[in-house]
Amino acid sequence: MTVLKEYTYSKRFPNLPLIAAAFADQHPDLIPLAFGLPAKESFNLSLMMESSIEAIQKGGVKPLEYGGGTGPMVVAEWIKQRSLLRSVRAETKEILVTAGSSQAIDIATRTLTDPGDHVWVEGPSFFGAIRQFLLAETKLTSFPVDEDGLRVDLVEQKLQEVRGNGGTMPKMLYVMPNHHNPTGVSLSIERRKKLAELAYEYNFYILEDDAYVELSFTGEYVPSIYSFGPERVVYLSTFSKIVAPGIRMGWAVASEPLINKMRMLKSDGSTSVYVQEIVSQFLTTIDFDQHVEFLNSIYRSRMEAMVVAIEEAFDEDVSYIVPEGGFFLWLTFPGGTDTSQFMQQSLQKGVSYLDGAHFYLNADEKNHIRLGFTYCNEEEIKRGIERLAESYHEYKQKTFVLEGVKK
Ligand SMILES: Cc1ncc(COP(=O)(O)O)c(C=O)c1O
Repeated sequence: MTVLKEYTYSKRFPNLPLIAAAFADQHPDLIPLAFGLPAKESFNLSLMMESSIEAIQKGGVKPLEYGGGTGPMVVAEWIKQRSLLRSVRAETKEILVTAGSSQAIDIATRTLTDPGDHVWVEGPSFFGAIRQFLLAETKLTSFPVDEDGLRVDLVEQKLQEVRGNGGTMPKMLYVMPNHHNPTGVSLSIERRKKLAELAYEYNFYILEDDAYVELSFTGEYVPSIYSFGPERVVYLSTFSKIVAPGIRMGWAVASEPLINKMRMLKSDGSTSVYVQEIVSQFLTTIDFDQHVEFLNSIYRSRMEAMVVAIEEAFDEDVSYIVPEGGFFLWLTFPGGTDTSQFMQQSLQKGVSYLDGAHFYLNADEKNHIRLGFTYCNEEEIKRGIERLAESYHEYKQKTFVLEGVKK
């Protein structure tokens, strides 16, 4: 038998730790608060089935052929109309339908940056995007987030400093303006305007990842950053949170020259013609406003159940900002807490969460956890939070006793 020689993979793979909670399925009754998944009840199975049949009945062989050129424009047309409500005014030729917004992040990053270029991000930020930036071999710097989103004042300060000392300017800044993953906060309108101004003044691009825009529990929408600087912003969103992540469909909006460059980097040709036809049938049949209202009513009550459960199970040790939309609640423990230290205990008790360190470039802060409130129902959320509080209190007790012994 030939023995395979050891093989070295490309050097561009970042050395990132695996996320333990994502692989946790050993508990028979695990309550997965680690998940960022839509509620099972959110999927409209019968309409999806009908739409799949319609796609073939109406389209014949067309949906089964290659898309060619830009591919079908039916979904792009829907996106164009819907985007107007979100103050994104674009022509269909400025819209690129992608395989999830993850692909849009990848393509935008490879279109706008070369290896070694600087990308600025929020800290904490979405680890899926951080991974893409690292795979593109860019250099990352992070800026804190408060209850009004990214600290744009600190971004401006840093831009002035870098310009002053002849340092390297960012090529791109990545920001989640609505119901940020993981903290749930949204960027204020003043900061959106300022950020767009800075992008013009200092000549960088903004990658505006608006995955959660539709999931607003207050029904309020703030104009996109794109609306203040369409030549300097790539706007992204996705059907993953509002239709289904399994269809793998998202989109990018940018100026025509830029979107054409991005189209060239999309090595799969057009996004699945067949799935686009199905999604197009789905979107034109459903009352979309009503659908979004339905999603928000489920998610709002789950979020409220989580807040009540936290208030009951934890003492004033923990703090959080009540999310006004999105998928996540960011729980902060006292400084010095390392939330990875009670992960195993929690998994054994039957609850998973993501420890906050994964969302920072260098595990900068260890005293947070991200809790997803969309996937589990109210009763599961209550039990999950009780289990979490139990394992935290045991950890705290143990740490306290050990520290006492050390002294
Ligand atoms: C902020 C953000 N952007 C992008 C994505 C990727 O979504 P998808 O590739 O499914 O469109 C996610 C998924 O969790 C997300 O939270």
